[in-house]
Amino acid sequence: MKFKTIIEPFRIKTVEPIRQTTREEREAALREANYNLFLLKAEDVLIDLLTDSGTGALSSAQWSAMMQGDESYAGARSFYRFQSALQEITGFRHIIPTHQGRAAERILFGTILKPGDVVPNNTHFDTTRANTEHQDAVALDIPCPEARQPSLEAPFKGNIDLEALTRVLDENPGRVPLAMITVTNNSGGGQPVSMANIRAASKICHDRGVPLFLDCCRFAENAWFIKTREEGYADKTPLEIAQEMFSYADGATMSAKKDGMANIGGFLAMNDDDLAVRCRNNLILTEGFPTYGGLAGYDLEAVAVGLREALEEDYLRYRTRSVAYLGDILTGNGIPIVRPPGGHAIYIDAKEMLSHIPQSEYPAWALGLVLYLEGGIRSVEIGSVMFGKQPDGSEKPSAMELVRLRFRGACTPRATLTTWPRSCSTSTRSRTAFAACVWCRSRRCSGTSPSVWNLHTAR
Ligand code: F0G
Repeated sequence: MKFKTIIEPFRIKTVEPIRQTTREEREAALREANYNLFLLKAEDVLIDLLTDSGTGALSSAQWSAMMQGDESYAGARSFYRFQSALQEITGFRHIIPTHQGRAAERILFGTILKPGDVVPNNTHFDTTRANTEHQDAVALDIPCPEARQPSLEAPFKGNIDLEALTRVLDENPGRVPLAMITVTNNSGGGQPVSMANIRAASKICHDRGVPLFLDCCRFAENAWFIKTREEGYADKTPLEIAQEMFSYADGATMSAKKDGMANIGGFLAMNDDDLAVRCRNNLILTEGFPTYGGLAGYDLEAVAVGLREALEEDYLRYRTRSVAYLGDILTGNGIPIVRPPGGHAIYIDAKEMLSHIPQSEYPAWALGLVLYLEGGIRSVEIGSVMFGKQPDGSEKPSAMELVRLRFRGACTPRATLTTWPRSCSTSTRSRTAFAACVWCRSRRCSGTSPSVWNLHTAR
């Protein structure tokens, strides 16, 4: 018999204690936080699956590179290392560091959008949407139809709808300064985008003179899914695949707090010389000088090393397998999740799991609160609270009501101190998250009141 297990491809050198809380303490903490998980004190959280953003531990290679950080105001050696890592991966001519992803979005959109413009994207992340709408432009989500069916097993549910993209560009001539594709599609269940889809979207855009940008926060996990799911890529390295993905685009925005494996950082990249000058001028207003973009020299070093580590095969295999492990035990026990599991998170389908709670009472928000109350687990809602409020102040139910459990630490080729799996075994944390989900489901099945607060306090 073949022995199958998931081995963490790292050793753990440092540990940090975490605090156990009682249910009563968590109930009080929730009240104190006004039932908003973002307002909890992190030390009141046992397993923090809120986000993979900047929460992982750094590798020993990153720490040693950081000791060589050059803090010169302009033209620091650390910038050139950062630039060279990114140019190798993306091939873009201009690399502009920013303190995180949303700063890159603000600079790009603040430079090229005008009121009434339309930006199509497979699905805008909330800061991408906010930065677009801040310019009085329209953030249009056009995911492929499979993306709207959480339980459907399909390899590339992050794809952009190519027909819709063609229609949007043809119907809005002169009003689409750029199109975007988010890899992987975070707000659409962390689903990957195929190379064929990026290539086809690029052609549609370029035939109409519209530049295509990637929101490439999780480009490495997307490359891994292309390698393992798309024909013709099995023998290519994640780096080669990433290079091809970027070759179809004219630029990118990125939060390096994800696949940059750093605690802070981001960038804006592009080929257009004139646009780069305008963006750098815009950057100076808030971020600093264009060779540091709001970052310390040591942050630039951490990202330069982290980007390359994110593309290591052992790490990507471990990261995707450990997420799939929890996804599969949840599915096997009747917890509805977005299938198949993505590379950095499990998304529970709260609309399905708590079908007795109407969308107007925010089922995903409710489930997130119960997971904390019962399991000490912090998750994040991706549903009507995140997306429901419209620019005109009205509310529209979100297409999906998801609770996202994020696994940043599981991803790193190292332990993480602040998130999963911290310093103990992955399976302990998987089992805790699993048990909490099953508990929530059983409460619902035994006839918990549909009212949100009653659900929270049910014993
Ligand atoms: N784009 C995507 C797809 C993201 O997931 C994020 C951040 C951003 C842009 C913005 O980057 O936070 O560095 O300014 N996502 C985090 C999350 C916050 O929890 O999903 P940022």
